Amino acid sequence: MSEIVTALEDGVLTITFDRPEKKNALNAAMYEAIIAAMDAAEADANIGAIVFTGAEGAFTAGNDIRDFIDNVAAEDFPALRFVRRLATFGKPMVAAVEGVAVGVGVTMLLHCDLIYAAPDSMFLMPFIDLGVVPEAGASLLLPQRVGLAKATELLMLADPFDAREAERLGIVNAVVPPERLRARAHERAKQLAEKPRGALLVTRKLMRGDPAALLARMDEEAAAFMSGLRSEEAKAAFEAFMAKKG
Ligand code: COA
Repeated sequence: MSEIVTALEDGVLTITFDRPEKKNALNAAMYEAIIAAMDAAEADANIGAIVFTGAEGAFTAGNDIRDFIDNVAAEDFPALRFVRRLATFGKPMVAAVEGVAVGVGVTMLLHCDLIYAAPDSMFLMPFIDLGVVPEAGASLLLPQRVGLAKATELLMLADPFDAREAERLGIVNAVVPPERLRARAHERAKQLAEKPRGALLVTRKLMRGDPAALLARMDEEAAAFMSGLRSEEAKAAFEAFMAKKG
């Protein structure tokens, strides 16, 4: 059964991370499915926007730790292709966050156009604690978004933060009660999908500016991420996580 569920309604493609027994942690097959859905959405004129969300009260616990261990020697890491796809995707992306958003579950939001979060959301970027470095261009985008001092707390100390703090920092647009969260995200995505498409997409591109620096930073991060993954620091952190599972 697929752990990525897609649904098309009103010109909006909803992509749901659906692996609730693992807090929707993302593995290689899930990244491949998301990338394929994004490729199809970009090519389909009937789709004007996408919404990312997670099943059963969690957004995503980030990259699957088992998957990190299994991919230590891999040349191609689908997570890094996924975050690059976020940066090159040409249509609006909306996120509806509930519960945990860890690692890539936070950095991917820096690429989304609109983000809504339930009050119980908990955001955390523990890259350094795991012996790796932030990805998705977060080392560039987060300081731009929240300032270097705050980004230092979030990326270097891995301080957790909640929905209100995320709103205050400008990482999320609004805090929305869980019963209205998905409807709000869908409604806003639908509004974007119904706008004059050409003008909207050019405006979006202009607001984001030249992506060259972002893509170059993502390449640097990817190289550091892969060598981090193979480090003793990472090995120890992953083993500690697996041991905690008992
Ligand atoms: N990779 C693999 N499995 C994960 C996972 C991940 N990133 N996150 C959670 N899981 C698994 C847990 O091992 C547990 O599995 P089990 O029931 O077989 O033991 C299950 O999902 C539920 O998680 P649990 O830890 O019991 O839930 P929680 O609500 O107490 O805590 C988190 C949720 C997300 C705070 C915690 O699971 C966590 O810290 N996960 C690791 C997050 C992480 O470091 N991601 C990588 C970022 S780069």
